[in-house]
Amino acid sequence: MKILLTGGAGFIGSHTAVELLSSGFEVVVVDNYSNADVSVNDRIIQAAKWQIKNFGEKPKTDNDVLPITFYYGDCRDGVFMDSIFREQEIDAVIHFAGLKAVGESVEKPLEYYDNNIGSTLVLLNVMKDHNIKKLIFSSSATVYSADNQMPLDENSQTGNCTNPYGWTKYMIEQILQGVATADKEWSIVLLRYFNPVGAHASGLIGEEPNGIPNNLMPYICRVAAKKLPKLNVFGNDYPTKDGTGVRDYIHVVDLAKGHVAALSYLYRHNGAEAINLGTGQGYSVLDMLNAFEKVNNVKVSYEITARRAGDVAVVYANPSKAKKELLWEAEMGLEDMVRDAWGYMVKK
Ligand code: NAD
Ligand code: UFG
Repeated sequence: MKILLTGGAGFIGSHTAVELLSSGFEVVVVDNYSNADVSVNDRIIQAAKWQIKNFGEKPKTDNDVLPITFYYGDCRDGVFMDSIFREQEIDAVIHFAGLKAVGESVEKPLEYYDNNIGSTLVLLNVMKDHNIKKLIFSSSATVYSADNQMPLDENSQTGNCTNPYGWTKYMIEQILQGVATADKEWSIVLLRYFNPVGAHASGLIGEEPNGIPNNLMPYICRVAAKKLPKLNVFGNDYPTKDGTGVRDYIHVVDLAKGHVAALSYLYRHNGAEAINLGTGQGYSVLDMLNAFEKVNNVKVSYEITARRAGDVAVVYANPSKAKKELLWEAEMGLEDMVRDAWGYMVKK
């Protein structure tokens, strides 16, 4: 089976490409490399070979050449996207491509609406033209309203997004629901990710934010590597066990495996279904920091500062729908997440 990954050179897409290759799928990646380096192409192949060698899973190839093709281009370019569907016999699509920085989306709303929604509309039209109607979309826990009770399940209130990035995810979910309602042949899964962290155990692929990171784990990594002086812990007066914010961190390899599970689900379901990918376990900022120092035996300097605008105290998933429908649950714990995040940082 041949799977097209838009944004497949990015953080989550690259790990999913490795899981697919080592599970015997053929993979086609399309990326404009706006937030990825082309060197990741080779590293995806090396990481997949590492995984196959170490875990004995056999690819459906009789030699060392893994079935992956890379296209350099923009998903908003309909002629380009159409040419990929003409050249490749795609069975299903995982749509990762998009811009994802919350703060930047407030500064550049038009770029976010244009890229995220524009790429989805072009993709849907090309898929329809080629009669390919199986799609997994990278949604986010950010679509849930801030005033929900925890844990968040798929029936929790959505909307009231606080930034254009969140609205793009919310609007794309609405678009996909509409498409699936109008044409019953579509099978769509809206995967709502919680907080992906970590890296591939080979140390070959991982998270590479441009400039100073916004997210906690890449920031901790840079402080530990002495590329940044200290971590600012945004508030210690939240109603949590140690006063710092609590999130549902999920290892990116677990997340990638969730996509493989969702692909099977596409074949036993119709319509558009939202499914959380989280662990159900919340950890505070200080939990993350302490685990990182202990497991990796490194020091992470920090200072408690004011709360960050827009942050909430606690966010974590009810992951039971993924377990029931996808037959998937996260397997890796906090130690794996902090070890692998650091493993990538020291190796690259
Ligand atoms: P990423 O930036 O590492 O990957 C996205 C990839 O898409 C990049 O390689 C980028 O170059 C590419 N891209 C962007 N616009 C494109 C376009 N128009 N055409 C072709 N390629 C394009 O991000 P990620 O962390 O891997 O996230 C993947 C998806 O998951 C995104 O849609 C993101 O919004 C969503 N998501 C991420 C998180 C997270 O915390 N990482 C959480 C929830 C949801
Ligand atoms: N934090 C710090 N210092 C930092 C960075 C973060 O203390 O330098 C804290 C935050 O206040 C929060 C926690 O660490 O309590 C996690 O923050 P992140 O920025 O890593 O993640 P968020 O939960 O704020 O947001 C992430 C993604 C969003 C996505 C959301 C839900 O950035 O795109 O998860 O999936 F929408």
